[in-house]
Amino acid sequence: MKSYDLPQTSLHASSIILGLMRILKLEDEEIRRLVESAFDVGVTMFDHADVYGGGHNCERRFGDAMASSSIKREDVIIQTKVGLVGGVYYDLSTDHILQAVDESLTALRTDYLDSLVLHRPDALVEPEEVAAAFDVLESAGKVRNFGVSNCSPGQIALLKTAVKQPIVFNQVQLSITHAPIIAAGLTVNMANLEQSNDRDNGLLDYSRTAGITLQAWSPFQKGYLNGVFLGDREAYPDLNDLIDELAAEYGVTPIGIATAWITRHPANIQVILGTTNPGRVAEAAAGSDIVLSREHWYRLFKAAGHTLP
Ligand SMILES: NC(=O)c1ccc[n+]([C@@H]2O[C@H](COP(=O)([O-])OP(=O)(O)OC[C@H]3O[C@@H](n4cnc5c(N)ncnc54)[C@H](OP(=O)(O)O)[C@@H]3O)[C@@H](O)[C@H]2O)c1
Repeated sequence: MKSYDLPQTSLHASSIILGLMRILKLEDEEIRRLVESAFDVGVTMFDHADVYGGGHNCERRFGDAMASSSIKREDVIIQTKVGLVGGVYYDLSTDHILQAVDESLTALRTDYLDSLVLHRPDALVEPEEVAAAFDVLESAGKVRNFGVSNCSPGQIALLKTAVKQPIVFNQVQLSITHAPIIAAGLTVNMANLEQSNDRDNGLLDYSRTAGITLQAWSPFQKGYLNGVFLGDREAYPDLNDLIDELAAEYGVTPIGIATAWITRHPANIQVILGTTNPGRVAEAAAGSDIVLSREHWYRLFKAAGHTLP
């Protein structure tokens, strides 16, 4: 499994993160097997949110699974997110962050988080409120690293007017078929082309410049949580043909190629898997070990329907 030294941290993490957003449907034993088998193929980082499963439920199920597994707490990197309240509104106030983190620690059965991520930008954010929470959490030893999710460079700059700790992660949606953070940069300033619209103010280049590790969520989804492109020949015939061809050539499965398309990028982007299937985790892990040629990487980009002028 490819792994990275994460800039601005002392963390060394797998290129693949297991996301636990979808585990509620599993039995306890299945969750334990998923987590252990992911660890066995080299996954050392796990992504949560207080809101997954409602009321810290996915965190709790994972905490239970860890307690019954052979994995040691210090051998894994546990990340959770805060800020979405019951799917109804956003809250990055000091009180809310502190309370939610305490609840996450209890649910996860740990006394520290390796990473706390602000789930989405809060329109009503007051950077001083976030800073106060981060200071308390850091000095209490409850959180070791801090990050954001779905944030633009300007939103990060706003937080940094008050927050002292480095912002080390930004989680963003990225798959071959949903790739605006990459695609816009390949069609700068082109007229009458939707892809040319810069939706994130140069987030990718900013992140590389600032040493912020991007984490790609929904790496196999067509768009926003609307199903996987893998095997969807009606919507993506050319892409699936090419993925199959390259899977045979590189000796991996289609999931491996879809993973490799992200890990091939020199920004050392981490891929957050949402699968609940241990076999698919292993297939993705195998994909992170291959290096797609430039030609293959660009052909996949074009086969997904993006423009390469
Ligand atoms: N920061 C944010 O705003 C944000 C938003 C969304 C998600 N996330 C994080 O990102 C993680 C991943 O998101 P995601 O779950 O949307 O990602 P994903 O890995 O693209 O999608 C996972 C889903 O696709 C299915 N799947 C995977 N490969 C498949 C295949 N070859 N054929 C058919 N179905 C397949 C999985 O089913 P099986 O379980 O049956 O394999 C699962 O339902 C989440 O767990 C969460 O940690 C963050």
